[in-house]
Amino acid sequence: MDLKGCIFDLDGVIVDTAKYHFLAWQRLAEEMGFAFTEDHNEALKGVSRMASLEILLRVGGVVKDDEEKIELATRKNNWYVEYISRMTPDEILPGSIDLLNRLRSEGILTAIGSASRNAGTILDRIGLRTMFDVIVDGNKIHSAKPDPEVFLKGAEELGLAPENCVVFEDAQAGIEAALAGGMKCIGVGSPLNLGKANLVVPDLKNITLNQIKNL
Ligand code: G6P
Ligand code: MG
Repeated sequence: MDLKGCIFDLDGVIVDTAKYHFLAWQRLAEEMGFAFTEDHNEALKGVSRMASLEILLRVGGVVKDDEEKIELATRKNNWYVEYISRMTPDEILPGSIDLLNRLRSEGILTAIGSASRNAGTILDRIGLRTMFDVIVDGNKIHSAKPDPEVFLKGAEELGLAPENCVVFEDAQAGIEAALAGGMKCIGVGSPLNLGKANLVVPDLKNITLNQIKNL
């Protein structure tokens, strides 16, 4: 392919924030009187905040009205923001900075395509904001993954056609979003969950530019 841009999901690809989402959702579940496990948390990866809350309530068999749901999501987010406001650059996942540097030195543009409304805070805490030409986060989109909006907007803001972009994703919903947007997709994690991606790597450590270009 004619590779001109790479669009990265943030949570689970550049940083492991899943553990902070988990701690905050678990605390909320505890307050409501039911257990929420790491296994349950898997289903929340890449899923928007309100959709995550719906899954959590279903796990607990709890019914809430819309006003209560907003209050619960806000309470969870306040705890989550407390956790991420203490993040440091040490939490950048191995291989990320090196890959970003290699792409940028070849003139390949870089973007963030994240469902999170907290992406900006995280990028500031880990000091990576300037490594991305474009940042599309949950504040800029209307439809959550697997809808391709976040990645299409990323490509558009980079000034590139989708077929010239590759997406890096750790969540099934994100891979579906990238493919639906007409982009190639590299799954970061286990082939067991990410089988639909064009290539699956365990992390960003050993990936070569040729592997990306030859998708
Ligand atoms: C990412 C994470 C999800 C999270 C979503 C919204 O996609 O993988 O677990 O629910 O962002 O995050 P937010 O920070 O806006 O609650
Ligand atoms: Mg993710």
